Amino acid sequence: MLNGEGDGAVTEEITLRRALPRDREAVARVESQATPNLSYLPQVFDLFLNDPQGDFSVAEVGGRVVACAKFTVLPDGSAWLEALRVLPDYQGLGIGKRFYRNFFAIAEDSGISTLRMYTNIANEKSKGLAERFGFQWVATYRGAQIPTAEISGTADSTGFQPVTDPRRAADLLMPHCEEWTGFLVMNRTFFPFVPATCARWATKGKVYEDPGTGDVIVLGARFMPKQALHIAFAEGEPARWLHFARRVARASDIERIQCMYPPRRADVEVFLLGKGFQPDAYDCIVMEATIQR
Ligand SMILES: CC(C)(COP(=O)(O)OP(=O)(O)OC[C@H]1O[C@@H](n2cnc3c(N)ncnc32)[C@H](O)[C@@H]1OP(=O)(O)O)[C@@H](O)C(=O)NCCC(=O)NCCS
Repeated sequence: MLNGEGDGAVTEEITLRRALPRDREAVARVESQATPNLSYLPQVFDLFLNDPQGDFSVAEVGGRVVACAKFTVLPDGSAWLEALRVLPDYQGLGIGKRFYRNFFAIAEDSGISTLRMYTNIANEKSKGLAERFGFQWVATYRGAQIPTAEISGTADSTGFQPVTDPRRAADLLMPHCEEWTGFLVMNRTFFPFVPATCARWATKGKVYEDPGTGDVIVLGARFMPKQALHIAFAEGEPARWLHFARRVARASDIERIQCMYPPRRADVEVFLLGKGFQPDAYDCIVMEATIQR
């Protein structure tokens, strides 16, 4: 039976180990079968492999890579669990649970007390697995996107300038934390809406303000910067901040603009959909667990 779980038909041991450069193709194959409509591991493989803080692991059964998962430490020191993928033939056999136990072990070893993940609201299995490990639903976000070339309209966005001072970025953004329901999203990574995230993004050139109008926008990418420019937060006159985002995307030849916003910000949704943004099929939910020490 499978590694003491007693809940699968696999007769061989599951082994978890750190991913290696030679796992590139196997990991891509796992993802292409586990999430046929979502593929990004080939593009971030090196980034994940070389992450000095996190953990990128694979599961092997009989010497074959059948699953992978990534443990990432976000700027505020919390853990972000991502890219958990199990080959369909090996699902339901306890491999996801093995990874979760590994996530908790890494968190314990690193002194990390908050862990989070996201899944789409229809993914009962992923949600149920997280709940089994004590995760609770803490926020819901809705996504919409548009090819840059399809954005129309003009506005004066010339007043936007980068906010490079970490404290200024936190002062500008933190008052909006509650209404934006606690997270800032890029590449479906739900960064906690806390001063540490604001500060990191200020130093990375992702926070902009127009001092003349008070408009603010946070945009950029965690990875795959040419594929999409992510609007993680925006406040002020939508025509102006979207115009600014389009300018940034055009200047760097970025294909699409994406935004994830809390459903309670109906004003943002109405504006984006009115501009031709296409909504994602499902809302995403953020789930969180805390280790008590
Ligand atoms: C979601 C996924 C990672 C789970 O991995 P797995 O190896 O199949 O999961 P395991 O067998 O270890 O764990 C199964 C647990 O999930 C939960 N679960 C499974 N099906 C469930 C369902 N329909 N409803 C609620 N919970 C469910 C249960 O807690 C179950 O454990 P239990 O039977 O002991 O209570 C895997 O199915 C997968 O790769 N799916 C496609 C990619 C994906 O959705 N990734 C998630 C991140 S978005």
